[in-house]
Amino acid sequence: MSLLQVKNLIVEFPGRHGTLRALDDISFDIAPGEILGIVGESGAGKSLTSAAIIGLLEPPGRVAGGQILLEGTRIDNLNHEQMRHIRGRRIGAIFQDPLTSLNPLYTVGKQLIETIQTHLPLGAEEARLRAISLLQETGIAAAEQRMGHYPHQFSGGMRQRVVIALALAAEPKLIVADEPTTALDVSIQAQIITLLKSVCKKHNAAVMLITHDMGVIAETCDRVAVMYAGRIAEIGPVHDVINRPSHPYTEGLMAAIPDIEVDRDRLHQIDGSMPRLDGIPTGCAFNPRCARAFDRCRQARPELMPVSTTRAACWLHDASQEAVA
Ligand SMILES: Nc1ncnc2c1ncn2[C@@H]1O[C@H](COP(=O)(O)OP(=O)(O)O)[C@@H](O)[C@H]1O
Ligand code: SF4
Ligand SMILES: [Mg+2]
Repeated sequence: MSLLQVKNLIVEFPGRHGTLRALDDISFDIAPGEILGIVGESGAGKSLTSAAIIGLLEPPGRVAGGQILLEGTRIDNLNHEQMRHIRGRRIGAIFQDPLTSLNPLYTVGKQLIETIQTHLPLGAEEARLRAISLLQETGIAAAEQRMGHYPHQFSGGMRQRVVIALALAAEPKLIVADEPTTALDVSIQAQIITLLKSVCKKHNAAVMLITHDMGVIAETCDRVAVMYAGRIAEIGPVHDVINRPSHPYTEGLMAAIPDIEVDRDRLHQIDGSMPRLDGIPTGCAFNPRCARAFDRCRQARPELMPVSTTRAACWLHDASQEAVA
């Protein structure tokens, strides 16, 4: 069974000038232990997808349709308190800024122990040993002494390591990481991603890894979903999506990674920018930026359709139509 199922998820923002639809019919699964990457330019809907899953959509944003299931049970209709419990125990969250997850007033040891004891039936000493061991696993030197330090006494990278330890404290089955290295120094981003991958594998936690960096996706994920304007443009095994991108938007994102072997002649930099929610083009939302757009792209919206091992929402792959040049 899938660990996480997102089915036809719709997220809307009601406003004075009408309702804006920010996520429009998003569906994907994550298998136990799997790393699913979510990639796309700023504004694609990556963070809203994550916020909907962990129950932290900010009002007036709301789930207006669809379902989210964790191990077969719906979690999109739970109340605040139930969702808070799920977030600590069954889903661990990691945000761009480590200080979102850490309380500046408490030592990291106290925060780890408290999270562990809230969710696991461990006594004080067992919880303390578990906290130390989690810090060691995440590469914090002199972990026992560091337990007594406050978040501001750690560097940005070390703080994000503490957050990873905290996210794993109650052995969740799923870690949702929204741009976990974007705020960190470029020189340590790769280390943190590598660490995240290795500790999650060790703890058997699946990961939904959000990034705008195709290079990180290529090196880290099992599968990838490419998002554009609140929808999934392409989804499939990472190797296939990267080596044979089926959606012109994915090709454009690939062009930004210098060291991946793809047919350079097919690539164009993507001109233009992601549409605002109140100006999403009819037909394929990508059509104004797409070098291969044809009439149908401006009229009808493509759903995800199978293309060998992946699925892409692009009329170029519509097997039911005559091929269009
Ligand atoms: N509180 C909000 N009110 C209105 N629109 C929002 C709000 N939060 C996000 N959006 C819009 O939803 C879209 C997706 O945002 P987001 O999920 O944050 O994108 P990403 O994380 O991919 O950069 C964007 O167009 C953004 O402007
Ligand atoms: S449907 Fe048309 S506009 Fe959209 S990506 Fe495919 S070719 Fe380009
Ligand atoms: Mg975001």
